[in-house]
Amino acid sequence: MPRFFIEALRKRKEVGAVAASSKYLARAMTDPISDDRSSQRVLEVGAGTGAFTGHILDRLGPGGSADIVELNPKFCDRLRKRVVGPWSDQASDRSATVIEGCIEDAPLEPGYSTIVCGLPFNSFPPGVASRILQQLVDLLAPGGTLAFFEYAGFPTLRCAIPGPWQVDAKAHRASLRDLSSTMTQQRRFVLRNVLPAWAVFLRSQGV
Ligand SMILES: C[S@@+](CC[C@H](N)C(=O)[O-])C[C@H]1O[C@@H](n2cnc3c(N)ncnc32)[C@H](O)[C@@H]1O
Repeated sequence: MPRFFIEALRKRKEVGAVAASSKYLARAMTDPISDDRSSQRVLEVGAGTGAFTGHILDRLGPGGSADIVELNPKFCDRLRKRVVGPWSDQASDRSATVIEGCIEDAPLEPGYSTIVCGLPFNSFPPGVASRILQQLVDLLAPGGTLAFFEYAGFPTLRCAIPGPWQVDAKAHRASLRDLSSTMTQQRRFVLRNVLPAWAVFLRSQGV
């Protein structure tokens, strides 16, 4: 059985998906990196088995660097051996580091031009989700972009269908609205993914 699926079953809340993201979602999510010619510092959060990581590394220009934060030790092992290691052997003028642990405790300096986030915010308690989102916004450089994704229709259904999840879903939606009120928001629909998803881009104010 593929590693992602096994870990998704073992750590359902942490992984928050049954399949790794598709290359179509990966392309959409990593698109802001190409706009980003000078001093590229990229942060990836919740890298899983590396569905976005290879695309991030491919887009890094000379002198660029990527910090890749992942909580699951098995995924980190795989990222180092199969994705970052082979890439580093050929990319002497750029760098990538896998940081094992949760994003809340990761020792990161602000100033990222792009943050690509794969965290399953809809599986987290809303307080945790909004704290992490604020942390990521604070890590952006002026004019930087935070990209994350949501499965299409899922947040709307969680808000609309009565149940114990509804309060959390509405709180998450409200905190996202507050956070994005000071940023420029764009969304791109990606059909070819299990499940179809919206890539959401929040761009911070420039200097
Ligand atoms: C939905 S999966 C996304 C994986 C991959 N980016 C993709 O799209 O296929 C979410 C990933 O976030 C990781 N994760 C969950 N909570 C985390 C946290 N607090 N800090 C860092 N990574 C976390 C999980 O281990 C999992 O690999």
